[in-house]
Amino acid sequence: MSDGASGAAPFLLRPFTEDDARALVGWRYDGPYAFYDPAAEDLPAILAELPAYAAAEDGWGALAGFFVFGAGARVPGGERAGLYPPGALDVGLGLRPDLVGRGLGAGFVAAGLAYVRGRVAPPPARFRLSVAAWNLRAVRAYERAGFRPGPRFTSPVRGKETAFLLMTTPPAADAGGPILCTIGRDQDSRPAPLPGEPPPGALGSGRPLSDEEPGPAIGR
Ligand SMILES: CC(C)(COP(=O)(O)OP(=O)(O)OC[C@H]1O[C@@H](n2cnc3c(N)ncnc32)[C@H](O)[C@@H]1OP(=O)(O)O)[C@@H](O)C(=O)NCCC(=O)NCCS
Repeated sequence: MSDGASGAAPFLLRPFTEDDARALVGWRYDGPYAFYDPAAEDLPAILAELPAYAAAEDGWGALAGFFVFGAGARVPGGERAGLYPPGALDVGLGLRPDLVGRGLGAGFVAAGLAYVRGRVAPPPARFRLSVAAWNLRAVRAYERAGFRPGPRFTSPVRGKETAFLLMTTPPAADAGGPILCTIGRDQDSRPAPLPGEPPPGALGSGRPLSDEEPGPAIGR
C-alpha cells in the first residue's frame, strides 16, 4: 500500500483524542518489539500532553498510528549527553501492532512529518528521533523517510542500559528561526492544510507546544 517516503501514504492525519490515548495504551507488540508496549500507567501523562500528539487513521477511521512531537519524544540518556540542542523537532511514533512489518513505515513517517510541517511556524529546520539501536526495521524505515544516522548513546529502559541511535533529517530549505511549535494554537495563522488533510483548526486542544516542553515517553 505504501510507496515509501515520497508518495501519498494510506493514512489520514488528524488531532489525537482522548479515545486515541485509551486505544494506544492497549497496544501490544510481538516479540522484541514488546519493548515499545505502552503501559496503562502512561495514560495520564499522554492525556496531559494531547496537543503534542497526532493521530494517523486507517481507511476505516480507526487509530492506525501515533506521533508525538517535542520533548516527549526524547530519551533521558540523550538529554544527559546533550544531544538535543535546539534547532530540530523531536519525533516519536508508532504504527498499530497489526500494521507493522508490511512496508508502511516510510510512508507513515513521511505523512506525520508533512502534517506537522504544515502546522508549525516556522517549519522545523530538521526532524530528529531517537531509536533503539537494535531496531533495524525502524532504522531502515526512518532512513527511507529521509533520516540519517548520527551519534549513539545509552539510556536505561526498565532498568537495563540500552543503546540508542540519534537520527536527523537534513536541514529543510524553507526552514528558519527557532522552532516554536504551535500545534493547537494560532489557528488563524497556520498554513493551509495539505491536500487531503483535515482543517488545521481541528488539531489539539489549544495548549502550545514548544520544542523545550516536557512530554510523555511512550514505550521507552
Ligand atoms: C518503526 C515502524 C514505523 C517501521 O514501520 P514498518 O512498517 O514496521 O516497517 P517496514 O515494514 O516498512 O520495514 C522497513 C524496512 O525494514 C526492513 N525490515 C523489516 N524487518 C527487519 C528486521 N528484522 N531487520 C532489519 N530490517 C528489517 C524491511 O524490509 C524494510 O526495508 P526496505 O524498505 O529496504 O524493504 C513500525 O515498525 C512501528 O511503528 N513499530 C512500533 C514499534 C517500534 O518499533 N517503534 C519504534 C519507535 S522509535
